[in-house]
Amino acid sequence: MRVAVLASGQGSNLQSLLDAFPGSSSPATIALVVSNRATAGALARAAARGVATATIAEDGADAARLLELFAAHGIGLVVLAGYLKKVPDAVVRAYRGRMLNVHPALLPAFGGAGMYGRRVHEAVLASGARVTGVTVHLVDEQYDHGTIVAQWPVPVRPGDSAELLAARVLAVEHKLLPSVVAAFARGGGAPACFAAGEAFGPASVLPPSFDDALATA
Ligand code: GRF
Repeated sequence: MRVAVLASGQGSNLQSLLDAFPGSSSPATIALVVSNRATAGALARAAARGVATATIAEDGADAARLLELFAAHGIGLVVLAGYLKKVPDAVVRAYRGRMLNVHPALLPAFGGAGMYGRRVHEAVLASGARVTGVTVHLVDEQYDHGTIVAQWPVPVRPGDSAELLAARVLAVEHKLLPSVVAAFARGGGAPACFAAGEAFGPASVLPPSFDDALATA
C-alpha cells in the first residue's frame, strides 16, 4: 500500500515509518511526504531516503492540491504524523477510513484544537493523571475526534516534566504507529480495535501486557 505522510515538524514519527518500511517487500511504502512548512525536518528525512516530497500553503487549506498530489502518487493511505493543521473536509471525505492520526495522549482526553506538542503533556501533568499514552485514530472533520483504532498506556512518573513525559510518550508512538500502519496495509483497511495487552505486531515491538508497558515505558 502506498502511503502519504503529512508532517509539520521534525518528523521522528515519519522516521519510525521509514525505518519500519524500508523496502519493496514491506507491506507499506512511504511514497510521499507533504509539509505545510518548507523548513520541516520531516522533509529532509524523506529526501535522505529518496522519498518524494511536496510543500503546501502554511494554512494547509488547499484541498485540490492535496488530492492532486495523492492521486499523482497513487496514495491508498494517509498518515498525519505531527501535522498541526486541520485537513480540509473534501480530503477527509475522499480518504474516509483511510486517514490516520497519531496523538500523544489517551483520547478523548487531552485532545482537540490547540492541543499539541508540550501543551498536551503539561495538561496531563496539571490534571494529576497517573497514566497517559498514545492514540492512533481515523481522521474525521473534527480535531482528534475520529474512531480510535489503537491506544497504548504510558505511566506518568513522580517528578516528570513535560519534556520527560513527552519523550517517554514519543518512544511509544514510534512503536505503535508503524504497527497500525502495517495492520492497515496488510488488512487493506481498519483493523479491529485492539485492547491493551492484545498482541499488536511482533511481540518484540510492543510490550505484551499492561504491566510490562508500565514497567518498560
Ligand atoms: C508527536 O508527539 C505527535 O504525536 C504530535 O507531534 C509530535 C511530533 O513529533 N502530534 P515528530 O514531528 O513526529 O517528531
